Order: sequence, then C-alpha cells, then structure tokens
Amino acid sequence: MIEIVNVSRDWAIGKRGQLLIHIPADLRYFRQTTAGKVCIMGSTTLESFPRMAPLKGRVNIVLIDDARKIRPESLAALEADRAAGGSTELFYVRSPEEALEAVRDYPKDDVFVIGGASIYRLFLPYCDTCLVTHNDYPSDGADTFYPDLAASGEWQLTEEGEPQEYEGTTFRFCRYERILP
Ligand SMILES: NC(=O)c1ccc[n+]([C@@H]2O[C@H](COP(=O)([O-])OP(=O)(O)OC[C@H]3O[C@@H](n4cnc5c(N)ncnc54)[C@H](OP(=O)(O)O)[C@@H]3O)[C@@H](O)[C@H]2O)c1
Repeated sequence: MIEIVNVSRDWAIGKRGQLLIHIPADLRYFRQTTAGKVCIMGSTTLESFPRMAPLKGRVNIVLIDDARKIRPESLAALEADRAAGGSTELFYVRSPEEALEAVRDYPKDDVFVIGGASIYRLFLPYCDTCLVTHNDYPSDGADTFYPDLAASGEWQLTEEGEPQEYEGTTFRFCRYERILP
C-alpha cells in the first residue's frame, strides 16, 4: 500500500477539518495517481471533500465506527455518479482489519491511503512507499500532522522533484521508501 499526502512545514496536514492549502498541480497529481485505484480514508476526510462526495472513478473505503453516521450527502453524490454511468464505489468499514480485508485482492500498489492523520498512522506500518508533496506554506494553527518520515530513521527519501511555485508557495513532489520494517 502507498500513502499519499501533502505536508506543510512541520509535516502539518490540516486545520479545522480542511487542507491547509489547495495547490492545483498537487490536486491534479493526486487525481492522476489515484485514478481507477482504491483509496482508504477516514470519515472526516470524506466529509472534507466538496459536497462530501466520494472520489470519482475510484473505490472509496471509508473508516467509520457506526454506519448510521454516514452522511446523506455522500450517498446522494454516489447515486448521482451511478446515474451518470460513473464507476465510483463507496464502502464503509468499521476497523482497520475490515479495511485490510476489503483490499486483500487488489494489487498492493493499487491501494492508496489518503488520510487523514489517524488513518495515515494506522496504515503506515503496512506501507513501503509514501508519496509526499512538501510545501513551505505556513502551518500556523495546524491541528493535524503526518509522522516526520525524515526523522524516523525508518524511511529514505528516494525521489525529490524540482521545486515548483504556486502563489508564493514552493512545493515539490517527493517519494520515500521504507528502509526498516
Ligand atoms: N494534507 C493532506 O494530504 C491531507 C489528506 C487527507 C486529510 N487531510 C486533513 O486531515 C484532517 C482529517 O484528519 P483526521 O485525523 O482528523 O480525520 P480522518 O482520519 O480523516 O477521519 C477520522 C475518523 O475516521 C474514523 N476512524 C478513525 N480510526 C478508526 C478506526 N480505528 N475504526 C473505525 N473508524 C475509525 C472515525 O470516524 P467516526 O468518528 O465518524 O466513526 C474518525 O473520527 C483534515 O484537516 C483533512 O483536511 C490532509
């Protein structure tokens, strides 16, 4: 499995249920990388999407402890996608074990862990690759963080893209590979 995340300074990833910054090139990269694949996410992350809609054209696996909390907006968006002939799928699971069972038959490189913080931490031990977009946007007030892979000693930076810029924020696409189990 592969984790994919956008981190600001201090490995910050979110503030009050939302991303710290929306970088169009990064959103495009995320969309292209996960198109047609499986995405594991927490319920808060699903609810952070526009209209709470599951990701189009992907298998969305959402961790939630009680199916009664499923938001009608998410179900309505799924129905609308199906009515339009879309291939989006949405499954709710109640534990990491159920999520792992749900993805068992997919090639492991087709399964992406897409957040948020609690889900990244739960599944990191099962991942050998992390696709990290580093940016230097100020992380003031951030309340959710990704583990600092660089400081962990368990991960190696294996690819570091050229710096790019969006409205004064510098970002680069990076790849980390696990070096210690
Ligand atoms: N920068 C990035 O790349 C990126 C990516 C994704 C998300 N984010 C940000 O991260 C933040 C959200 O992260 P988060 O940690 O607060 O929320 P989250 O991980 O998206 O979702 C947390 C929810 O997932 C469910 N859950 C978690 N562990 C579970 C378990 N073991 N069993 C069953 N259900 C479980 C629970 O839902 P219930 O309580 O509903 O049962 C829990 O409240 C937002 O700010 C979002 O924008 C950033």
